[in-house]
Amino acid sequence: MIELQTEGSEDWWEVEALLDLCFAPGREALSSYRLREGVAPVAELCLLAREAGEVAGAIRYWPVRVGQAPALLLGPVAVHPTHQGEGLGGYLILESLARARALGWPRVLLVGDAPYYGRFGFRRLDGVEMPPPTNPERVLGLALEAGAWDAIRGPVEAQA
Ligand SMILES: CC(C)(COP(=O)(O)OP(=O)(O)OC[C@H]1O[C@@H](n2cnc3c(N)ncnc32)[C@H](O)[C@@H]1OP(=O)(O)O)[C@@H](O)C(=O)NCCC(=O)NCCS
Repeated sequence: MIELQTEGSEDWWEVEALLDLCFAPGREALSSYRLREGVAPVAELCLLAREAGEVAGAIRYWPVRVGQAPALLLGPVAVHPTHQGEGLGGYLILESLARARALGWPRVLLVGDAPYYGRFGFRRLDGVEMPPPTNPERVLGLALEAGAWDAIRGPVEAQA
């Protein structure tokens, strides 16, 4: 049975090991990591799924800004290869987005595959620029409040 919990500081290295397993080496060179350096993640939204004590999947979020507008940066999200395709990734994404909405976050963005994230309502964000090098086609957003991305343009910056 899958058990969901928020990630605690004691879970950090287990989640890092899962990310190392699921992503190509050098993941920390990705531009999204520039926005995470020295910034605490949004603890209430970093979720961990365990089965029989072992980490099966995890999702983390960081706070960012686009101009003066606050936003959540979704990711990384990863599911252990033995659990992929069982719906766990979708569950982690939908559950954390519901919590984000309940906490009053207006908007979310990520860098990822549109065919996967499109099923959760994410769409390409025109004019919102992640630090280079990022393929603009992969910069996707979701409004948690109606119209929350309307008229929001510019570079994504780390939370001060
Ligand atoms: C992406 C990931 C988190 C999805 O988790 P998961 O638990 O396997 O996903 P789910 O079971 O909820 O959904 C599986 C569906 O998503 C599809 N899918 C998974 N990754 C996809 C991708 N990159 N692009 C398009 N579709 C994708 C699967 O084909 C499957 O489709 P189906 O429902 O039509 O059969 C997981 O595969 C993973 O950890 N991958 C490696 C790390 C990674 O790429 N993270 C995302 C960074 S953008």
